[in-house]
Amino acid sequence: MSEQNNSPSTAQINVELEDRSYPIFIGSGQLAAVGISRFVQGKKVLIVTNTTVAKLYLSALESELGDKQVDSIILQDGEQFKNLDTLNSILTKLLDSQHDRKTTLIALGGGVVGDITGFAAACYQRGVPFIQVPTTLLSQVDSSVGGKTAVNHPLGKNMIGAFYQPQAVVIDTDSLATLPEREFSAGMAEVIKYGLIADAEFFDWLEQNSSALKQGDQAALTYAIERSCLNKAKVVSADETEQGIRAILNLGHTFGHAIETFQNYSGWLHGEAVAAGMVMASKLSLMMGGLSQSEFDRVKNLIKIWSLPVAPPSDMTAEDFNKLMYRDKKVLDGELRLVLLRALGDAEVTSDYSVESLQTVISSSFSE
Ligand code: NAD
Ligand code: GLY
Repeated sequence: MSEQNNSPSTAQINVELEDRSYPIFIGSGQLAAVGISRFVQGKKVLIVTNTTVAKLYLSALESELGDKQVDSIILQDGEQFKNLDTLNSILTKLLDSQHDRKTTLIALGGGVVGDITGFAAACYQRGVPFIQVPTTLLSQVDSSVGGKTAVNHPLGKNMIGAFYQPQAVVIDTDSLATLPEREFSAGMAEVIKYGLIADAEFFDWLEQNSSALKQGDQAALTYAIERSCLNKAKVVSADETEQGIRAILNLGHTFGHAIETFQNYSGWLHGEAVAAGMVMASKLSLMMGGLSQSEFDRVKNLIKIWSLPVAPPSDMTAEDFNKLMYRDKKVLDGELRLVLLRALGDAEVTSDYSVESLQTVISSSFSE
């Protein structure tokens, strides 16, 4: 991973993965400034977007690709369309329009569009290049970086997919101007996560700069996204296919996935469930001696500043958590491994915690 500083409102990071390395461009005006065409090797492009994002940004992206033959497919908007039928519609469009192995797919949208486009690129003719143009905060700091691509199956979220890295990630922070406030806050949960798992200095910075971020200060926004991507890139470079350390990126997710599954993926946003889950993981870290009481209070306060939940939904019970958490991908041989904090800014994946303390955390979490 390397970093180049341009101006306070733009940044470039490189994700170092040998022959699969790629740049991430971050900042205001990047869609026009980057010259996205230079990452398209062939003559043809398929832009994949959705009904919401197409109205806002499709023509701006098309005009950056003037020298290419550009097709586009506009998907329906929503997590419920991140499935094999939609994947098939993208593959059919590629075949119908005679795209060959030199074609490039461009994902224009949030994490749903990014994940499905990446997986289509991994599958089409055994793999064609793709570019990520993420337009939600969550996709800019998390899903567009690191090459996890997938669709959902009725029996499980993200259960069909591949590790497949993009050619480039172009993050134009101007796109956040149209993002609903609730979606922005949900993305902030993942930003806070990086401070907690790997970067205590960034956590301090986030405490001091929430007003600037809320006011849309471009330099602050670019810095927060850059620092998040730097932290993610470092972990991904060390463990691309999640054999070990990459799992720390899932802080709070075991609790959060239980919440999302309980709500049938149609209640809280992912970042909201992760926020409550991070409070639960921090509470267990406090009980295991990794965090002090004052550090735990700081975690809770920062999450509250972004109007994110610090407790699970009130209609959930401790029994629901116990039933749903054991379905997590981190269960090995019946043992539930969790991401816990050894200190603020230092996480580990471990089964070395007291099961009684976990039960106390779950039963007391509803009154946080
Ligand atoms: P999303 O893609 O559903 O986007 C949220 C909403 O914002 C949608 O309605 C979308 O149309 C709209 N939108 C997008 N950009 C907009 C803009 N600039 N202005 C106005 N509206 C805009 O949700 P998300 O939070 O971006 O991503 C969630 C998905 O990401 C989930 O499917 C999750 O599984 C996946 N994910 C993947 C990874 C990974 O590593 N691949 C990591 C985290 C999450
Ligand atoms: N979002 C978790 C990961 O990329 O590994």
